[in-house]
Amino acid sequence: MSFKEGFLWGGAIAANQCEGAWNVDGKGPSIADTAPYFGENQDHDNYVCFQDMSKEDVYACLNDQQGIYPKRWGIDFYHRYKEDIQMFAEMGFNVLRMSIAWSRIFPNGDEEFPNEKGLQFYDDVFDECLKYGIQPLVTLSHYETPLGLSLHYGGWLNRKTVYFYEKYVTTVFKRYQNKVKYWITFNEINNILSGLYVGGGILKDYTTDNRKQDTYQAIHHLFLGSALAVKKCHEIIPDAMIGCMIARRESYPASAKPEDNLVCFEESQENLFFTDVQMRGYYPSFIYKTWQENHVNIIKQKEDDQILLDGKCDFVSMSYYMTVVSQAKIDENTKMVSGNDMHGIKNPYLESSSWNWQKDEIGLRIALRRLYDRYQKPIFIAEIGLGEKDEIAPDGKIHDSYRIDFLRDYIRMAGKAVDDGVDLFGITCWGCIDLVSMSTSEMSKRYGFIYVDVDNYGKGTYRRMKKDSYYWYKKVIQSNGKEL
Ligand code: BG6
Repeated sequence: MSFKEGFLWGGAIAANQCEGAWNVDGKGPSIADTAPYFGENQDHDNYVCFQDMSKEDVYACLNDQQGIYPKRWGIDFYHRYKEDIQMFAEMGFNVLRMSIAWSRIFPNGDEEFPNEKGLQFYDDVFDECLKYGIQPLVTLSHYETPLGLSLHYGGWLNRKTVYFYEKYVTTVFKRYQNKVKYWITFNEINNILSGLYVGGGILKDYTTDNRKQDTYQAIHHLFLGSALAVKKCHEIIPDAMIGCMIARRESYPASAKPEDNLVCFEESQENLFFTDVQMRGYYPSFIYKTWQENHVNIIKQKEDDQILLDGKCDFVSMSYYMTVVSQAKIDENTKMVSGNDMHGIKNPYLESSSWNWQKDEIGLRIALRRLYDRYQKPIFIAEIGLGEKDEIAPDGKIHDSYRIDFLRDYIRMAGKAVDDGVDLFGITCWGCIDLVSMSTSEMSKRYGFIYVDVDNYGKGTYRRMKKDSYYWYKKVIQSNGKEL
């Protein structure tokens, strides 16, 4: 197996799921701070808890004294980042994928000047990483639109948000030009298809009767934002690489019926539409039919096509957790599965996690080859991982052999994809330290190599403990993926 020399090995986190300190040092609220935890009985597998909201819902969250909003305290990374980064360094990380909380820099999104304390915080975090030889790979927006932009502008439905984003990214490129050489414009940009608020910061008050029109208009603005960010990044940090990211939806036809295969193909195309525009710089021809069928009429300005063309990404990245099955005709007996934003038919040949996410390492190999075939550009695995309920054993340790088995299979297949000819340059395992779940806002679904002693209600010592997988991943990194 042949991961290249200098391969980037590390973990991935997001500001809104780990920093906490949601209103500290001038930070404004982001949409993530309105994501409630609904208790043990919530529907775990098919659910993003802050998918569709109105202004009224948002104000109710902000005034809610009883509710539980775990992303507001996270795992207190804001105050404990030194200890955490030191543990990442000891595992051998040479990359840490993290995000900047946009509303730490521009608290409402539309200020004239940035918040110096927010900028200083990331200076400190990046310095701490670089001290250990860890390259920060920064996602500029990870489900973290400033709430001010949602409430007062309609989030990404409003073209003004493109320019607020451009100002924000220009600010951080200038500030961190000597510290950060890898960037991603938007986390899982395609997930706006299932949630306008989570993916685009768009409140119901701003939408029309044609959801598809609103969705594709907002997507157009996201594409412009991404392209402008790429251009700025190239100008300000010529030696940096900036990429795009999708939640890859790999799927199999339910049968050999041509109809099932066609549906499967089209679902894949809908997913790759996002990377098509960001990697190639123009809309693929198939989207015009979708727009026509759904009465979508994108409002564009004359310079937009050129902006997209001038802002092609340098690499493509993806989160990859599971696969689903596609079938032309679904009836009430069809067994469905889902994993946060991914829905599809259950595959009888695959095992599922406690949250019903279907494990499929071969699907990862296929996904990598598909992306490489399509774009012929370097690929980065921004997220793989297993969310499970970890227990502290009587010996005081966390024996997460299931996580080791899971990641071993996935990393082995990533290696096979490299042998197949894919130009893969790094892997960051999701939630390398336990953090709050994006979809359900719970702590009990843990992904980490490092356990954090805090429960769904924010109670606990916040002590960090190494799980068995911590020592395993350390060996994987030391051997550059040979010892699995
Ligand atoms: C991805 C997101 O969808 O999956 C992360 O980029 C998220 O933010 C991860 O945490 C796992 O999903 P969840 O819902 O289990 O936290």
